[in-house]
Amino acid sequence: MQHNVQQKIESIGKDILSLTEDGRVPFYRFGPGPFGLQASSYKPENHEQPAAVSAEREPCGNGLCDICRAVGCKQRQKIEAESDTSPCFKVGGMRKISGRVRVHGAKNSVLPILAACVLCDSPVHLKRVPRLSDTGVSLRILDSLGCTSALSGSEAVVDASGLCETRIPDRLVREMRSSVIFLGSVAARAGEASLCLPGGCELGARPVDLHLMGLRALGMEIRERGEKLYATHHGLRGAEITLPFPSVGATENILLAAVCADGKTVLRGAAREPEIVDLCSFLRRCGAKIVGEGSPVIYIEGVKSLHGTEYTIMPDRIEAATLLGCAAVTGGKLELDDCAPEAIGSLMAVMRRMGCRLEIFRSSVRLVSPARLNGAGLVETAPFPGFPTDAQPVLTAMGCVAAGETRVRETVFESRFKHLPELIRMGADIDICGREAVIRGGSPLHGATLYARDLRGGAALVTAALAAEGESRIYGLSHIDRGYERLEKTLGLLGADIERIR
Ligand code: UD1
Repeated sequence: MQHNVQQKIESIGKDILSLTEDGRVPFYRFGPGPFGLQASSYKPENHEQPAAVSAEREPCGNGLCDICRAVGCKQRQKIEAESDTSPCFKVGGMRKISGRVRVHGAKNSVLPILAACVLCDSPVHLKRVPRLSDTGVSLRILDSLGCTSALSGSEAVVDASGLCETRIPDRLVREMRSSVIFLGSVAARAGEASLCLPGGCELGARPVDLHLMGLRALGMEIRERGEKLYATHHGLRGAEITLPFPSVGATENILLAAVCADGKTVLRGAAREPEIVDLCSFLRRCGAKIVGEGSPVIYIEGVKSLHGTEYTIMPDRIEAATLLGCAAVTGGKLELDDCAPEAIGSLMAVMRRMGCRLEIFRSSVRLVSPARLNGAGLVETAPFPGFPTDAQPVLTAMGCVAAGETRVRETVFESRFKHLPELIRMGADIDICGREAVIRGGSPLHGATLYARDLRGGAALVTAALAAEGESRIYGLSHIDRGYERLEKTLGLLGADIERIR
């Protein structure tokens, strides 16, 4: 029997590979169902590693084809080998997540704002700074450039007046892909900047072509040599730029370079995310002239220089979404204080469809979850104000415990289902077809040893573990710590049985 199951999984892997060659997209499934694959018998680490993987074949990116499983097997083997020493969360399931909490400052806001500090000729004082590993990387980048920074509690002071270096260290860029946003600010301020190409990451290829197109339009000369990007200029000039896709990072890079350019910039097709609005509010406080943020067209009039200011980072809408998800899967009642409800409108609409009662106040939200969630139906991720791709993994965890079907279509990133094999490991019934996942909720989840392969996927595993019967151990905390400040502490305060081990 075990042999048959393995053969089926191997042939499913081959199906996926054949679709990349002839364009066919066969639907395949794991979990109980027509193929008879019981979740409990699906153990990726037990499968034979494919002997040779053709270089022409593309991995599916979600840990399910034989290429990804080969990589996944290796990673899991490595993690299992290191599990005596690497930290993990020990989570006891089936405890209600209830209570009241204030969310931390937004990761996706503080990172571009720290990059923007480079443009200021006097100190910046930031409040509500989340203590994340990504925040630490940004501060180390600033230090490596000759700026001074100090972080105390949730406040940071950055003084970029001593900026004397323009090479952003490779090891820091590799630790945090979004360090590419330093390209625009450092080159704008110093006339040159270099960094290694951030390359692909856990969510897919993630090119930076739109960043480069926008910066070049402003007059930056950017050379790509091997893995390195070298940017120089002899004065930036405002330009009319149209982004074919509202990339968040490209919008930020262009803003950072345009605020001190000579003349006016009109940026069409801009990202509308709340964190873009927050970055523009910050820049305006530093003396920049910007209007239109939050809409697809942003107008920037260049100024000579920016000065320091005091600024409070906006609340993290993805942490808010995660905590709401954790409460919802456990039937809890949650009050989120100071959480920017307007930034999580699409998530709340989906949660209402799932049977949650949500009351919205000026800056807080109150959730009363039903005893059992309903399936959400079809949810498609999209740039803001659509359903956020960063909340998609937590939604899939919610779908696993809901009565009925949740169908998730991921349109922003190509490889954002890597947590699904782990949910299947817990007993979830999930079909995946390319960028669409169909989750048939209702099969009880059971605790398991899991590992996070990316930040938000890690949060989804925590969410599922809170709703599962029995104990789970979740490895790969370095991913989770990139975007959640002591998640175990926040959840512990809300009644979770969760502990960081080591
Ligand atoms: C930011 C967020 C991330 C979020 C994402 C989408 C930060 C630090 N990260 O990432 O949490 O999930 O927005 O809301 O704020 N693309 C290109 N060429 C480019 C740039 C992007 O093809 O030059 C593609 C990407 O490969 C991806 C899509 O556009 O498929 C979205 O990327 P983008 O909006 O740029 O996301 P990030 O800024 O990387």
